[in-house]
Amino acid sequence: MGGFSIAGIAILISFVVATQAQAQAVVPRSTCDIYKGKWVYDPSYPLYDPAKCPFLESREFDCQRNGRPDRYYLHFRWQPTACNLPRFNGREFLMRFRGQQIMFVGDSLSLNQWQSLTCMIHTSVPQASYVNRKIGGLSNFTFPDYKVSLLFSRNAFLVDIKSENIGRVLDLDSVEGSRKLWEGVDVLIFNSWHWWLHTGRQQPWDVVRQGNATYLDMNRLVAYQKALYTWARWVNTRVDARKTKVIFQGVSPDHASGPKGSNCMGAKVPLHELSPQGTVNPAEIVLQRVLSGMRKEVYLLDITGLSQLRIDGHPSAYGIGGSRIPDCSHWCLPGLPDTWNQLLYTALLP
Ligand SMILES: *[C@@H]1O[C@H](CO)[C@@H](O)[C@H](O)[C@H]1NC(C)=O
Ligand SMILES: *[C@@H]1O[C@H](CO)[C@@H](O)[C@H](O)[C@H]1NC(C)=O
Repeated sequence: MGGFSIAGIAILISFVVATQAQAQAVVPRSTCDIYKGKWVYDPSYPLYDPAKCPFLESREFDCQRNGRPDRYYLHFRWQPTACNLPRFNGREFLMRFRGQQIMFVGDSLSLNQWQSLTCMIHTSVPQASYVNRKIGGLSNFTFPDYKVSLLFSRNAFLVDIKSENIGRVLDLDSVEGSRKLWEGVDVLIFNSWHWWLHTGRQQPWDVVRQGNATYLDMNRLVAYQKALYTWARWVNTRVDARKTKVIFQGVSPDHASGPKGSNCMGAKVPLHELSPQGTVNPAEIVLQRVLSGMRKEVYLLDITGLSQLRIDGHPSAYGIGGSRIPDCSHWCLPGLPDTWNQLLYTALLP
């Protein structure tokens, strides 16, 4: 896996950077933490025009089409402190992953990132044909000329929910229902957290099972950790590291609640720095604990901190719920998930 490394540890990168201003400058092979840096205003962003991405889910993510009047938030680029990110090149992406399947597995934040990637690549190669199909919970966006499939499998918990006589059972010990779908995929990008917090009518299970015991409820962080250990066991025992790269998308922060001023409504500029209590998400700590104890290498796409600054990047009143139910959890496209994909692209480079 070349430059791959465990969660939180800086990765080795070395690549050629071309900017408009200067000729090709070689970034010295150095230890660079690509997640440490700042947002800089860059008028050459965003990376694509949403009007040229006909398959973008407009109600959820296309904030401009939904009437968002401000555009300043579109023009930010993530600048690591110690190096530059390579500019995204969709054609190179397709050539590098020729014949491969890349699958996002998770909730609507995975959908957010998958949609961003399909738009980023399609914009780079607008004449390349594509097939976009959705069968059940599996979305399949394929570029037949390159035999590259970008897949999104909706799966909020990673572990199974089983229909039984006692109701819908969230089984913390089992990934049986999904593992066949994951097997043989070349790049797997997982994500899970937000649905663990849902209660009441938004909670899609009735009881939770672990071992032989069934509970009406459980501390959600504890349940999350148990489910992640089950998932990790599958990775440790079933993933062939020579064929498959496994990535976990870090926790995407929302700006829906919290102390006064942290709600995303009306935010037009990024935050300059994080409030001290905003920097540590307990789910992120659980995730890092599980990943760091694994036998197989799983790369943490550590987007939490840099995303926390982008209070301006949510759909707010220009998302699926309009101004009645503002969306401070998902992200506008174009927007922040494009940066997640630039970081993913960087991490996948040899
Ligand atoms: C995705 O679609 C392509 C082209 O239609 C197909 O060849 C491939 O098998 C599909 N992948 C999955 C996992 O369904
Ligand atoms: C669960 O029940 C089975 C069969 O009754 C038993 O063999 C097993 O030891 C139990 N497991 C745990 C963790 O208690």
